[in-house]
Amino acid sequence: MDQNNALYHDLERILVTREEIAQKVRELGQKIADDYAGKNPVMICILKGACVFFTDLIRETPLPLTTDFMAISSYGSATKTSGVVRILKDLDHSIAGKDVLVIEDIVDSGITLSFLRDNLKSRGAASLRIATLLDKPEQRKVPLHVDYCGFIIPDAFVVGYGLDYDERYRNLPDIGILDPSVYSGK
Ligand code: PRP
Repeated sequence: MDQNNALYHDLERILVTREEIAQKVRELGQKIADDYAGKNPVMICILKGACVFFTDLIRETPLPLTTDFMAISSYGSATKTSGVVRILKDLDHSIAGKDVLVIEDIVDSGITLSFLRDNLKSRGAASLRIATLLDKPEQRKVPLHVDYCGFIIPDAFVVGYGLDYDERYRNLPDIGILDPSVYSGK
């Protein structure tokens, strides 16, 4: 832990270290490169949480890939997904006929990605796969198949490496469990 970084004082503990993340991102990038050999997939970053994972992952994926970005919002409290999904920023380019790989930071209830999968499928992608750094299967409310997963994690509120609480902590290099005192009473 970086004792000079006051953000760490709000953590109960570190769950995944930056070294473990970096190793996993390398493995995922190589696996994706192997699976998509000979193809030019478009990798779609789901803002904002996935931005850190995405920028690391594409640099570990030696393919002639392209990138695009979408922003999604789920209404609800700061720590729980409500089930209502809205597109805040759509893709810049058509995905018709493309091999699409959606990059997320975390799958929780599965509602966001289930919506996205159906939405993107309807645009005529040649193939559609999902990669997530973190998966919380205990929280699943709708069935969702994840093709590439970094870490399966317990049902705890995690922040860092792109994941936020109230828009903060995205810049923590490690992934930690937020101390409940930070959000209790909200
Ligand atoms: C997070 C995450 C996923 C979604 C997963 O996004 O990035 O998009 O929640 O939850 P679900 O499986 O229950 O639908 P969030 O709404 O926190 O927005 P952000 O990425 O901008 O932080």
